[in-house]
Amino acid sequence: MKLNRMTQISPAADPLSSRPAGEPEARAQHGVRTQTPIIQVSGLQKSYKPARGELTLFRDLSLQVEAGEMVAVVGQSGAGKSTLLHILGALDAPSAGTVYCASTNVAQLGPRQAAAFRSREIGYVWQFHYLLPEFTALENVAMPLLARGQQKRKALAVAANWLREVGLEDRADHRPGELSGGEQQRVALARALVNTPRLLLADEPTGDLDEITAGRVFDLIERLHASHGLTSILVTHNLDLAARCTRALRLESGRLVAIPAAPRSEARE
Ligand SMILES: Nc1ncnc2c1ncn2[C@@H]1O[C@H](COP(=O)(O)OP(=O)(O)O)[C@@H](O)[C@H]1O
Ligand SMILES: [Mg+2]
Repeated sequence: MKLNRMTQISPAADPLSSRPAGEPEARAQHGVRTQTPIIQVSGLQKSYKPARGELTLFRDLSLQVEAGEMVAVVGQSGAGKSTLLHILGALDAPSAGTVYCASTNVAQLGPRQAAAFRSREIGYVWQFHYLLPEFTALENVAMPLLARGQQKRKALAVAANWLREVGLEDRADHRPGELSGGEQQRVALARALVNTPRLLLADEPTGDLDEITAGRVFDLIERLHASHGLTSILVTHNLDLAARCTRALRLESGRLVAIPAAPRSEARE
């Protein structure tokens, strides 16, 4: 149904890429540059109905993120941090609310549109690398390009550049099992960014690493974020790393609350 509608309308009238009501679309048409947040969430609710009872994760949660921000999200286990990233990245659907991400109303996407949106706009990194064990580091990085139908030789050349960016050009032929935890996560970062997305969503990307390696991987995320003009959301339990982001938010009682800078630096000591 949704797909049929998509094929029948012009891009300008596409409700999936239009701004939320009240946004200054008209001014943009007259050549005035307008700064609209790259992520705009309001009234977000998410409920699960497990075998017994109902679990409500968010209470009219709102979030606005400007392009170029690096936002940390902390919160207790089970607070809904992963679910929030899944919703932003069109891997899961909200129960209510509006979710605009990279100019797209992600809550309205059908499965094929969601897959195309993710491939185009989102780089995802998880706590565990999820590299394919039977493929080399280079092939793993090239995988998203091959999935989009890019010619193998070209895909491998682009992937090689990304391996260089993450400092692993000399590990191209290694399989994931032949890499250290930090190296595996570097390869996962290269794979996440090989399609040059605008958004990086990272779910505890350093959670499985020792402190020194975690710091180095975070350094790399910071560098990639800056050099590729990314907007990044990082879920972490590490307050030191959260304090290095543009701002840090705590997910508690179903809402996002700003963590003031001062207590964050106290938490570092
Ligand atoms: N598919 C699901 N069905 C039912 N409950 C779920 C599902 N996914 C997550 N949950 C529940 O939602 C809560 C939040 O999960 P999650 O987003 O993974 O939290 P966090 O990442 O903050 O630890 C947890 O209590 C979890 O058990
Ligand atoms: Mg989680």
